[in-house]
This record gives sequence, structure tokens and C-alpha cells, in this order.
Amino acid sequence: KSLKKYNTFGIDCIARYFVSVETVDELKQVLSQKPSEELFLLGGGSNMLLTGNLDAFVLHINLKGIEIIEETETEVLVKAMAGENWHEFVQYCIENNFGGLENLSLIPGNVGTAPIQNIGAYGVELKDTFESCRTAEIETFKEREFTKEECAFEYRNSIFKNEAKGKYIITSVTFRLTKNNHRISVFYGDIQKILAEKDIEKPTIKDISEAVIAIRQSKLPDPKVLGNSGSFFKNPVIDAETFQEFRRNFPGAPFYEVSPNEFKIPAGWLIENAGFKGTRFGDAGVHKNQALVLVNYGNATGQEIWKLAMEIQKKVKELTGIFIDPEVNVF
Ligand code: EPU
Repeated sequence: KSLKKYNTFGIDCIARYFVSVETVDELKQVLSQKPSEELFLLGGGSNMLLTGNLDAFVLHINLKGIEIIEETETEVLVKAMAGENWHEFVQYCIENNFGGLENLSLIPGNVGTAPIQNIGAYGVELKDTFESCRTAEIETFKEREFTKEECAFEYRNSIFKNEAKGKYIITSVTFRLTKNNHRISVFYGDIQKILAEKDIEKPTIKDISEAVIAIRQSKLPDPKVLGNSGSFFKNPVIDAETFQEFRRNFPGAPFYEVSPNEFKIPAGWLIENAGFKGTRFGDAGVHKNQALVLVNYGNATGQEIWKLAMEIQKKVKELTGIFIDPEVNVF
């Protein structure tokens, strides 16, 4: 089966076996039959680059449903199944006036894959509202819950990229959201700018969501129109000594101080500085409005995108001494 429709990069690869599961019972049944081929888990396909055909058993996690678990005057626990589209779930929360996820509007992908890399944007990360998630263990096909502490969330990282990697399938995620007194986060300058232009002094969660959607639409390509996987690289974090040297060489570069000895440099700036923004090699390219995003103009192969990524990584290292690490999973 072709996976072109199942990855937002739009790479045309073939999977030897493909099964889509719609319920947890179906999932457990498939796991209990223990396919002998290598298992390849597929969610929204928004954070991966396929560089060849998959001689594997592709398991598409298509569990659906949203449920209110518990409610008080001020808070609500909402559980969403792993196969729910992330943005549609965020929109459901906004329509119901459940606050906390509005800054994460329009992020591609599904609910079940969001915790793996602790998705984040515009000053908010998934971990800020995450309560717990349920999983099915691949070996034993038993269900297991992970609390927030157990998930060990960090910037674009969690236990599911480390010790628990390849061992569990996330089946649902529960969020703790606000019903009133929303913690509005306008830390990001462009959000403030849009609210000021619209003369909004007391933004609602809907105002924030709309601002975020406008910012993303202006900078980030829509995967339905132009294949991409969002940020291709993570923003590198460098120590104070490396940062001092970097500052001497590039006094105009943007940065965020994470701690006194940790400075985060936008990879998008590093890539633009290396001259790659808006460039195109065959059907593989670097987006014109956001250099952190690699794009497929139509028929690029995963190999071509990967080759471009490695050239970027090498050039950035040569120019600045800084290593940029891909954020997408490459297969
Ligand atoms: N910049 C450039 N050139 C570019 C792109 C960015 O100079 O081509 C500079 C900007 O001028 C700005 C800085 O880099 O000073 C930061 O840019 P931006 O605010 O667009 O955010 P980012 O660091 O590039 C991160 C996330 C995004 C998230 C935004 C907003 C990572 C790897 N990426 O990007 O996440 O939407 O912040 O919070 O942390 C994603 O993960 O797929 C993603 C899109």
C-alpha cells in the first residue's frame, strides 16, 4: 500500500503490510497475533520522513472519540483518543470554552503522537495541560497508564523517545483544562501584535487561537498544499562559552536564554544565515517564509529531502560551529 496520503511530507513509499485499527480491542487483538514483521506505528504522519519502502507491518492508529472524564467549577479533565486530529481536538476545546490548548492551534498530527515529542508553540507546551495518557504495551498487549511525571517531558522530548521508545502505543491522552480564569499566554511577540492591531485588550481563548492560526498561516506551509513536516530541526541549545563566541561572530542573531549556561538559537536563523532560505533542489526545498521547514514541491523522494537536510546541517556547522539535530523521525 502506498503511504503517500499518510505522511504530511507526501512521500510516495510502499508498505508491505498495512492495518488500521479503530478500537483499543482491535489494537490488542492485532498485537496478540504478533506479526513477525517489524512493527511500524503510524499516527498522523506529520513528524516523519520516509526515505524508502517499508518492509514492515504498518499499524495505523485510528482510534476516535473525545470524552469528559471529570468536571469541577473551574477545571475539566478531557480524554481524547489517539487517532483524533490534533487541531480538530483543539477546536473542540475552544468551542466548549476549555482553556489551555489554544496556543497549540493548527499543529499538524494526531492527539496520540503529541506527547512523544511534547509538541509546543508560542510559549506553551503540551506538558502544561497534560494529565496522563493510556498506552498498550506492545510485548504484552496490556494497558498501562503514564502520569505526567512518568512521561519525563522536556523540550521536544519525553520517555517515549527514550526508555519507552518502541515499547508502548499511546491509545488516549487526558488533559486538565480550565473552564474559567483561563491562563492566557501572550508571551510571543507576534500574538501581542495581532491583538493590538485588533484592539483586543482582554483576549479570549478564541482570540488567541485565531491569532496563532493567522501567524502559522503566514509563515508555515499548509501540508495539504505543500508537503512538509513542520520544523525539520530542533532549535539547538549551546553553553555560555560557545554562545559568547557565537555572539562575537554574529552579533545580530536572535537567541533565548534558557538558563545562565544554556542559550537556545533559532535553527531557522542559522539556516537562513547559511543561505538556504527559499532554495530548491529538484522537488526538495527550504520554505521561503520559514527556513526551519523543508518542503516537497511534488515528487521529491525522502532521500532527496534527507540529502538536502544533511547539506544544511554541514553548512551550518562549518559557518557557526553549531550542530543542528533533526526533530523529525527519519526512516
Ligand atoms: N528566523 C529567521 N529565519 C527564518 C525563520 C526564523 O531568522 O527563516 C528567526 C525569526 O526571526 C525569529 C526566530 O528565528 O527571531 C524564531 O522564529 P519563530 O518564532 O518562527 O520560531 P522557531 O524557533 O523557528 C519554534 C518551533 C515551532 C513553533 C514556533 C513558535 C521548534 C523546533 N520549532 O520555531 O514549532 O511553531 O517556535 O513557537 O522549536 C514545529 O515544531 O513543527 C514547529 C513549527
